[in-house]
Amino acid sequence: MVVHDAMSLRAALRARRARGSVGFVPTMGFLHDGHAELMRRARAADATVVVSVFVNPTQFGPTEDFATYPRDLPADVAVCAREGVDLVFAPTPDVIYPAGASTSVHVAGVTGPLEGERRPGHFAGVATVVSALFHLVQPDHAYFGEKDWQQLAVVRQMVRDLHIPTTIVGVPTVREDDGLARSSRNVRLTADERIAARCVPEAIQAAQRAFAAGERAVSALEATMHARIAAEPRATLDYAVVAEAATLQPITHASATARMLLAVRVGAVRLIDNAPLG
Ligand code: PAJ
Repeated sequence: MVVHDAMSLRAALRARRARGSVGFVPTMGFLHDGHAELMRRARAADATVVVSVFVNPTQFGPTEDFATYPRDLPADVAVCAREGVDLVFAPTPDVIYPAGASTSVHVAGVTGPLEGERRPGHFAGVATVVSALFHLVQPDHAYFGEKDWQQLAVVRQMVRDLHIPTTIVGVPTVREDDGLARSSRNVRLTADERIAARCVPEAIQAAQRAFAAGERAVSALEATMHARIAAEPRATLDYAVVAEAATLQPITHASATARMLLAVRVGAVRLIDNAPLG
């Protein structure tokens, strides 16, 4: 079932809540197998599974791709049906942000580095919409991909700080056969760019090999990633760092749980990826 407004959502959920836990998968649509994996995790754990499809305007910067972000609600509904989702919530912007809405959620600390530095306001937009969606759906469990590692950390921090009664479940990144992380934006890569994009998972693998061979200096591990990206003429490095996994603070000496995080531009597409070193 697809609902578009808050009242229909509440009515549909009221009847279902008595049957058991509600699992929630927030998305911006153009669903792929990464999203489907979150749905499968919810389907296995929760009596009711809710997926939201909402391209959230407040998390896009003025020069970013809100207007051109790919959208296909009928295809998204078909994916949800295939995965046994009970309820698709596809609101319009005025449902989430009624006229006069003026509240935003700011998470400090973990929003500072990396994406936070390069996309001012992005995580406030994410935290605000996730908070609004949580109040609408009131889920017991909410599923987020490790693909967006910093976003997952921001959501965990917000839920802790605001005593939101939802358990956050992180789900490992789903990849294409050649290692590229699945993303709604991958469709915008040309055939040549799609091949060039392999440099991102290959940079991660190169650093993992160096770590396995005993390298512990973060500067050397980062240099390994930089070299792989630099070798790909179609790719432009934004950042490739090794950081403390939970806080994303810089470190100098790597452990197995330290996280590599990368942002690389290939053609018109900005790809992000991350993985543990060990
Ligand atoms: P979106 O990019 O559509 O992603 C929705 C969820 O799917 C996020 O939790 C994301 O991490 C997860 N996901 C995306 N690609 C994945 C992959 N390859 N493997 C595993 N999980 C993957 O992230 C957002 O939307 C928005 O910021 C949102 C949280 C919905 C707030 O607007």
